[in-house]
Amino acid sequence: MAGHIDAIKENLVREPRTWLVTGVAGFIGSNLLEALLELDQRVVGLDNFSTGKPENLAEVAATVTPERWARFAFVEGDIRNLETCRTVCSGADFVLHEAALGSVPRSLEDPIRSNDSNVTGFLNLLVAARDAGVKRFVYAASSSTYGDHPGLPKVEDRIGKPLSPYAVTKYVNELYAEVFASAYGMQNVGLRYFNVFGPRQDPDGAYAAVIPRWIKALITGVPVRINGTGETSRDFCYVQNVVQMNLLAATTADPAAVNQVYNVAVNARTSLNELYDLLCGKLTPHFPALRGRRPEYGDFRKGDVLHSQADISKAARLLGYQPTHTIDQGLDQALQWYINALGGK
Ligand SMILES: NC(=O)c1ccc[n+]([C@@H]2O[C@H](COP(=O)([O-])OP(=O)(O)OC[C@H]3O[C@@H](n4cnc5c(N)ncnc54)[C@H](O)[C@@H]3O)[C@@H](O)[C@H]2O)c1
Repeated sequence: MAGHIDAIKENLVREPRTWLVTGVAGFIGSNLLEALLELDQRVVGLDNFSTGKPENLAEVAATVTPERWARFAFVEGDIRNLETCRTVCSGADFVLHEAALGSVPRSLEDPIRSNDSNVTGFLNLLVAARDAGVKRFVYAASSSTYGDHPGLPKVEDRIGKPLSPYAVTKYVNELYAEVFASAYGMQNVGLRYFNVFGPRQDPDGAYAAVIPRWIKALITGVPVRINGTGETSRDFCYVQNVVQMNLLAATTADPAAVNQVYNVAVNARTSLNELYDLLCGKLTPHFPALRGRRPEYGDFRKGDVLHSQADISKAARLLGYQPTHTIDQGLDQALQWYINALGGK
């Protein structure tokens, strides 16, 4: 199966398609954009720069050739506007829908705002994609949908009750996608991402994810704070595994693989204490002052689940998914990017 994704990539290069990537100026969206342009695809990107940044697009522009960059059309706009959604869906073969307001704590602070982008915006885009007749609608779902279900590793059809407004929005996405498949014959695929990390993930702000936040803190000499005892664990997933799953989900010709949701991770579990040690170990050769530095411990965060780990056998079986990066391999690549971006050596 190792050659499976390579064969898909070769096919795409031979026969380029038009892709809509929403949230294209964000972390995952900009990595999808870069991968698609490297495969000579035509890409339309939509973003309202609420959490995404023009610098992310500028970095992709500087990475790909000018010829490839010319195949990208950017629209600054909002998925909360149906007409905007219709404009960007027009002519798209595939939609990769990443635009949403991420973060559990953000949704606890302002559930209405999260709902506007994550539910109303999602529905707008789904309606626009349906009316434009796109071939496949692939969307960012979330591991938060497992909620309070205690089982480990997480299997797609066994979910619990949501623990945050964010988790509700992401589950509603799955319900709408399922109904639009059965009622209108759409082809949809939901990807339940588990703690994704990699280049261009924002280390700043109250809602930053743990890996970029800690890397920046370690590089800049700010104390690292662990919420809880540090035994909380996650299935950290490097962004290139996410890129692979999007390509597989968009292009699969197997009817049984469509109108499904899939876990996207590596089926491994790393505790926050282990993550801290891993990051310190990799950064200390570059920043010797980190030797012996210990984290601070604080309260456990509301809305978080204690442990998370993905069973990825469904994605392997139906889509031929094989993660290319463990957390260790992913961190090596991500750290290099953060060291460059944050002005370290
Ligand atoms: N990063 C993770 O670990 C993770 C885990 C599970 C699910 N997800 C989901 O993956 C997707 C991408 O997440 P990310 O980590 O790249 O986050 P991100 O914040 O970097 O990217 C989201 C992008 O969407 C844009 N956006 C938000 N609301 C919008 C709106 N109303 N109209 C247009 N654009 C809008 C933002 O400006 C941003 O560029 C999101 O749907 C998120 O919920 C991410």
